[in-house]
Amino acid sequence: MPHNHPHIPRHIAMIMDGNGRWAKERGLPRREGHRAGAESVREVMEACKELGVEFLTLYAFSSENWSRPADEIKALMDLLNRFLDEKAKDLDKQNVRLLAIGQIDRLPEKTRDRLAKIIERTKNHSSMTLVLALSYGAREEIVAAARSLAADAAAGNISPDQIDSSLFASRLQTAGIPDPDLLVRTSGEMRVSNFLLWQISYAEMVIVKKFWPDFRQGDLFDAVREYQSRHRRFGAL
Ligand code: IPE
Ligand code: IPE
Ligand code: MG
Repeated sequence: MPHNHPHIPRHIAMIMDGNGRWAKERGLPRREGHRAGAESVREVMEACKELGVEFLTLYAFSSENWSRPADEIKALMDLLNRFLDEKAKDLDKQNVRLLAIGQIDRLPEKTRDRLAKIIERTKNHSSMTLVLALSYGAREEIVAAARSLAADAAAGNISPDQIDSSLFASRLQTAGIPDPDLLVRTSGEMRVSNFLLWQISYAEMVIVKKFWPDFRQGDLFDAVREYQSRHRRFGAL
């Protein structure tokens, strides 16, 4: 385990991809892949806690995923509800704070209620922050930030030349969360799919071939080791 290494990423962001293909390979309906993926979530959370990662962001549902068939969306929302019910106590016990980013108002009311309750209940927890990206799209997030700054400028609260990258970042839903150091995507796809476009400017990317439901703690440790072998330059020498 890459434990004692000084460079543990402070924030890991995960694109949990490949549930459908995992199921297809086994002749199962796609929802079974989503269901199996819940175990990977548990493993990754454990591994991150063990390493001392401060922030873990999981891309669970994108704005574009609303264009999937209704029965798949329903299966995903049911799983999310179950995850929230089952995790509510665990997160509390493990001192984990829950946050959510994305267009939460598009989620079913039941899901929003559960989310709000757990977020409130865990708001002072300090061992790790789990950020769920739900109905999340980075372009939508950036547009909303631009709109809020434009409204402030139009109202005369700020002047346009006050707008710099830190003011802009403070209007994103990730305000207060450090940028991801490491971005992991499973199932081999070399794309970002509208995830955290602003925040991953200098993230190290690790693409893993395995489908998400096959992703285990050892795979997370491998990704962290790969991260530790990189030389981050941030544009300097
Ligand atoms: C990731 O798996 C889960 C979500 C996007 C909600 P997919 O459902 O995208 O699975 P593939 O990529 O089709 O295999
Ligand atoms: C990205 O996966 C979204 C999530 C993992 C929630 P997708 O499967 O939706 O992305 P594309 O369609 O392959 O780009
Ligand atoms: Mg996919």
